Amino acid sequence: MKAVGDTSPRIISREIESGFYLLRVDDEKVNYFEAIWSIPERITYNAYLLVEDGGAVLFDGWKTVYADDLIEAIRGIVSPRDLTHVIVHHVEPDHSGSLPKVLEANGFRAEVVTNPMSKPMIESFYKICPKFRLVKDCEEISAAGEKIKLINTPWLHWPETMMSYLTNRRILVPCDAFGGYSIPRTILDEDDEVVREYLPSVRKYVATVIGFYRQYIIRNIEKLQNLQLDIEIIAPAHGLIWKRNPRLILDYYRSLAEGRPDGNKILVVSGSMYGLMEKAARIAVEEVERLGGRTAFYQFNDLEQPPFSEIIGNAIDSRAIILAAPTYEAGVYPPIDHLADLITKKIPPKPVLILGSYGWAGIVAKKLSEKLTGAGFKVVEMIEFRGSPSEEDVRRIREGVRRLLESS
Ligand code: FEO
Repeated sequence: MKAVGDTSPRIISREIESGFYLLRVDDEKVNYFEAIWSIPERITYNAYLLVEDGGAVLFDGWKTVYADDLIEAIRGIVSPRDLTHVIVHHVEPDHSGSLPKVLEANGFRAEVVTNPMSKPMIESFYKICPKFRLVKDCEEISAAGEKIKLINTPWLHWPETMMSYLTNRRILVPCDAFGGYSIPRTILDEDDEVVREYLPSVRKYVATVIGFYRQYIIRNIEKLQNLQLDIEIIAPAHGLIWKRNPRLILDYYRSLAEGRPDGNKILVVSGSMYGLMEKAARIAVEEVERLGGRTAFYQFNDLEQPPFSEIIGNAIDSRAIILAAPTYEAGVYPPIDHLADLITKKIPPKPVLILGSYGWAGIVAKKLSEKLTGAGFKVVEMIEFRGSPSEEDVRRIREGVRRLLESS
């Protein structure tokens, strides 16, 4: 527990099993992951340390700003000078930012074990030339009394990304994959309550960070299955460690990548400058709920601008989507246009109902429909009206919702 007024980061150093340590920092300062995605729930960066038989292996690291804290955490277990290997699974700086300082504290003695693609990235990001050991897919190295298999898992989350499998201990260290946002109150998936609290942050993380590469989630999970790894622990670089039920996070990732719906959840997003379109969106929400659906309803208006991260986090496991927007400068009201871009990039195709409105010329339905169908989404119905919805428009909206639910 930190004292009131203590602004130092919360660091957790814990031996998960004999000689294998979690080094976790809780980033309570970050507001926007990748300087894009709003994450009021924050995030953790998890590095791991294996110390055995005179060897010491560091798996990944923390953001640059926490580099000194990581060195202190390592020092609590082993002298940084005694690191024999630093495995860099992924060069994104939330994990590699501490590398230059760690290597400096180590006297550049350790081998940096990584994918050949990572070498020019590390050199160009940090202007350092460490002792690289570049490994091939599924190559095994011996270090700290372990046989570590390095498995290429491209696009989880960048093309160079690898995972480590500790063959004796049966631990998978997958870096970004199988992680999530938030600062879980435990380090392990100890009980159902902790997992239930955490999974919405996994869903949001997958949609925002890896959703664009979702086909690779499926391919890489299949690759792990084909390698017939016996996995007892999954130790990701963000969030909870999976020890009680590692299968759960593998299955959850796969279901998100496939866009499997969470029950009857329907995402409804309305943009409305003066409330006319919002009236129509509320009718759609009412009809969804009357027909037994559950809505995740977001409104862009002159009081609220909901975070895109929340919306697409709810899009990925929705059964269907309703987008409602007025015409704006001969196009789509910009927040909904941007949302449609995000959805078509990051979310598996879903059935969609479009509501469009206009004052003098309607274009929204056509433009949104072209964008969505071009990305494989099925536009079940487009309902466009002038001004505020008339009684006949209300009837069409209710009918459109009914058709949407039938088709999803
Ligand atoms: Fe957690 Fe792709 O970095």
